[in-house]
Amino acid sequence: MKVIIIIPTYNEKGNIERLIEILQNDVFPNIKNHQMHILVVDDSSPDKTADVVEQLTKKYKNLHLLNNGNKLGLGAAYVRGMNTAIEKLGAEVMFEMDADLSHDPKKVPEFLQKIDEGYDMVIGTRYSQGGSIPSNWGIIRKIYSVFGNLLVKAILMRFWIHDWTGGFRALRKEVFLKEKKELTSFRGYTFQVSFLHKAVRDGFKVAEVPIHFTDRTLGRSKIAPKEYIAELLTYVVAARFWELVYSPFLKYAITGFTGYIINAVGLEYFYRQGFHPSIAGAIGAELSIIWNFVINNFWAFNQYKITNPLKILVKFPQFNLVSFGSLIIISAILAVGNYFFGPASRQIFLVIAIGFFVIPYSYSMYNIFIWKRWHISFLSGLQKMVG
Ligand code: GDD
Ligand code: MN
Repeated sequence: MKVIIIIPTYNEKGNIERLIEILQNDVFPNIKNHQMHILVVDDSSPDKTADVVEQLTKKYKNLHLLNNGNKLGLGAAYVRGMNTAIEKLGAEVMFEMDADLSHDPKKVPEFLQKIDEGYDMVIGTRYSQGGSIPSNWGIIRKIYSVFGNLLVKAILMRFWIHDWTGGFRALRKEVFLKEKKELTSFRGYTFQVSFLHKAVRDGFKVAEVPIHFTDRTLGRSKIAPKEYIAELLTYVVAARFWELVYSPFLKYAITGFTGYIINAVGLEYFYRQGFHPSIAGAIGAELSIIWNFVINNFWAFNQYKITNPLKILVKFPQFNLVSFGSLIIISAILAVGNYFFGPASRQIFLVIAIGFFVIPYSYSMYNIFIWKRWHISFLSGLQKMVG
């Protein structure tokens, strides 16, 4: 495959030559199964980084320069570089890599190995076994980096990716082509986080490679964490909000709420007919089962809907079995409430039973057994519960 390593530069005159030489002489010769190229994207660096690269293009035919950009930030530089890499240079796989030697060029084959295994995007990660951040980073930058990543993970509810902000990555061109329209307005860390988030959201296969991030020895960083923190937080909170709005969970919750009304009306009706509250609640629950199955099937779990009549014949009893679990939970809790507080407590205990017990239980059962939306290991299934 044609692989293009994209290196954005802004005042990296002292670093870029060394990085290019290492890639060309120590890294590329060991990669036999891919054609390796470099594309430097320079935003009119005042230190004339572009001139240094220009000189080197005479020596290396697989080195390309995209210069005279306006300094619009890292995201814009990558979008410009990736467009050129695909359209003009025919890239199939692209790397994101810093010019300042913070990213060890010798790791490139490991990223490619993952691409060869079929992954769409490979993330260099500093926060898992075998990775690290520089010990000489100031405490403030360490805090920003560690907590920034934790916060992103927690808000996006995706704990299996350990490094969201890092800038050493490999990706297939399809990932960029799919997401590029949505990337143009993001700068700095937000670019890295949003790109990865959109790729994960759209089901691209993501792998991680542990990396040691070394602090630059020449020049200075152009990306100040505090400049981007508000933008980054806004992005992750908004992204998560919309994900929840569109997720099956919200639809499941609405279906469940209407089911609850059916349940409550049933409880009231049959209690007034002279039934014991636990029996009356159970009859109400029974009525909402059919409602829940139909609406969840055609709305919340629409993407996984069961239409084959034979399958419905199998699934509906299964659904009833799952719901029988809910029924037992509800009548047990109503019985407890009735025992301690008398029949007047019945509606409150119905709310407790549903809110704290039935929802977590039934939502997982639907996802795991009925519509089989979660088919990964139990732990990541738990992490996906809210989405
Ligand atoms: N063309 C262009 N335009 N290049 C830029 C710009 C820009 O506006 N801003 C930065 N760069 C280049 C730098 O010259 C360097 O090659 C690379 O992008 C990374 O910039 P640094 O200034 O070295 O960033 P950093 O070390 O603070 O941040 C790195 O680590 C972060 C995670 O801690 C980058 O890899 C970030 O992407 C990453 O999020
Ligand atoms: Mn750097």
